[in-house]
Amino acid sequence: MCGIVACRTATSAAPYLVHALRLLEYRGYDSIGVAVRGSDAALVTVRSIRRVDDLAALLAARDPDGLGGVGIGHTRWATHGEVSERNAHPHRDCTGSLAVVHNGIIENATELRAELRGRGHEFASDVDSEVVCHLLEEHVDAGRDALAALEATVARLRGSWALVVLDGETGALVATAHGSPLVVAASPLGVFAASDVAAIADWVDEVVPLRDGDVVELSDEPRWMRAGVRRSAPAAVSAAPARRSVEPLDHPDFMAKEIAEQPAVAAGILDALRPGIERGRLWRELGLPDFSRVAVLGCGTSLNAGTVVGRAFSRLGGVPAEALVASEAAESVLPPGTLLLAFSQSGETADVLRALDDLDPGIPVLAVTNNPHSTLARRASSILHCLAGPEVGVAATKTFVAQVVTGVCAALSALTAIGRVPRARLREAVEELARAPERLARALDVGAATIPPVVARVSAAPGFVFLGRGAGVPYAVEGALKLKELSYRWAEAYPAGELKHGPLALVEPGTPVIAVDDGAPRLAGNLAEVAARGAAVVTIGGPGSTVPTLGAWSPTRAAAAPWGPLDAVVPLQMLARELALGLGRDVDKPRNLAKAVTVD
Ligand code: M6R
Repeated sequence: MCGIVACRTATSAAPYLVHALRLLEYRGYDSIGVAVRGSDAALVTVRSIRRVDDLAALLAARDPDGLGGVGIGHTRWATHGEVSERNAHPHRDCTGSLAVVHNGIIENATELRAELRGRGHEFASDVDSEVVCHLLEEHVDAGRDALAALEATVARLRGSWALVVLDGETGALVATAHGSPLVVAASPLGVFAASDVAAIADWVDEVVPLRDGDVVELSDEPRWMRAGVRRSAPAAVSAAPARRSVEPLDHPDFMAKEIAEQPAVAAGILDALRPGIERGRLWRELGLPDFSRVAVLGCGTSLNAGTVVGRAFSRLGGVPAEALVASEAAESVLPPGTLLLAFSQSGETADVLRALDDLDPGIPVLAVTNNPHSTLARRASSILHCLAGPEVGVAATKTFVAQVVTGVCAALSALTAIGRVPRARLREAVEELARAPERLARALDVGAATIPPVVARVSAAPGFVFLGRGAGVPYAVEGALKLKELSYRWAEAYPAGELKHGPLALVEPGTPVIAVDDGAPRLAGNLAEVAARGAAVVTIGGPGSTVPTLGAWSPTRAAAAPWGPLDAVVPLQMLARELALGLGRDVDKPRNLAKAVTVD
């Protein structure tokens, strides 16, 4: 989704902006732009509806001596207005000397636009963000400096924003945020701001996240203001965990790298959390109240991971669990005694944050996120960092595994602490969970050998059906989600028993039916029904399956793993990736999608 970078550096700003924009590319975008203060104080704005390389070439074609060290850059994921150069950020005021980059949505942009037009302002784009430029212009005209003008401007806005303003005339660079992430940082190389720490992590050791309402001047000694009063800066956090390469190094793409990292990710989480499971220490350290039911909240893959964890609470401890689609959660009534687990790798998903606004504020919220400095982490009652490391591919892979393993550790610890699981049963489950890294590694090997022939069989199919039963269902749903987002082919997931109630009509000779076969009773009968209609059945299961990833599956193992067949997710991810590559898709940046979905 949209990304922001800004810098004030001793040398030319352009190479910094280009490098940072490359590191923001993974978020998903459809246009890109920068504004740099020229040596004559005029703003040089360069925008493109192609990729960062195109922008870099346009900048390289300019006289390097003409560009100074102060600049702002943006990747845009279109919300208001088509994808076009005129709608790309940065936007400017009528005089052309104020440039603005914005993430978020200005909800009252239509009214403000009409009002500003009425006062003679001319708009050059269709985007909501442009109103900010013209409001600023009026405040600067009235004699305010950029910082005071920005504070007065945002007082007129409704919605969410991370904003950075470059005043070409004075060279001032000012930033503010409300409901959208933004960090600032200083180092001997200069002063930086970004919506994603990864963009600037190569140049700074620590970053300072803005609180809602903070306004900061990015000068050599950043000046922090709030409601017109000078404030001290919030606490800094380390930038090191966000540092990453722009290339996937030894792998053909980031998705391949992140799929391969899953055994190590699971092992790292277990090293960190397993000692706190028995005796309930992990749970007690979270400082949350006891509960009698759980609700899991999330979107997409995070919702699927949450569903798996919710089922672990019910299957192991008999605790009622429900899964809430974040964008629909406002409809839900959560009874007293509910613990809400909010799953989000980015911690910035607008639907999840909106759901927290809409649900009962008295409900305790445990955030399970890969971003401990995110808005979700700040708003939750407590947080579990799921320790996946940076995930660049838009399709979530290792963060799914990380959220499941982290969430299951929390579930086991909590159920122990509240006395809902007998000691022997707990020990059996912990031992099974400890085998996850080894099982995921085996799944990688089996998938490497068996997925290519499956892809060859199904690559011409226009649509796919994914099936599971019981604990296998959320994995089937995750497999279908991965396949559609990467290959752009239709994929529907169902509990296998539902098939005969309608979806069976989709099945014709050759329709691929991908079944997560964890030995659930009655699944074989459902598969016989589709096979009888000519479906190309692919089973991901134990010995004798098309993809025998699950090793020797037994009722004992099924009972010991209330979170279901976690290792099945690996071949499902591989199937989606290899099918997509065969169809010529960009598996790291699927069309229309974004890594952090910050609009609702
Ligand atoms: O950042 P989040 O985990 O909250 O993101 C939620 C979904 O947008 C995300 O899982 C999406 O479905 C992925 N692209 C799936 O691969």
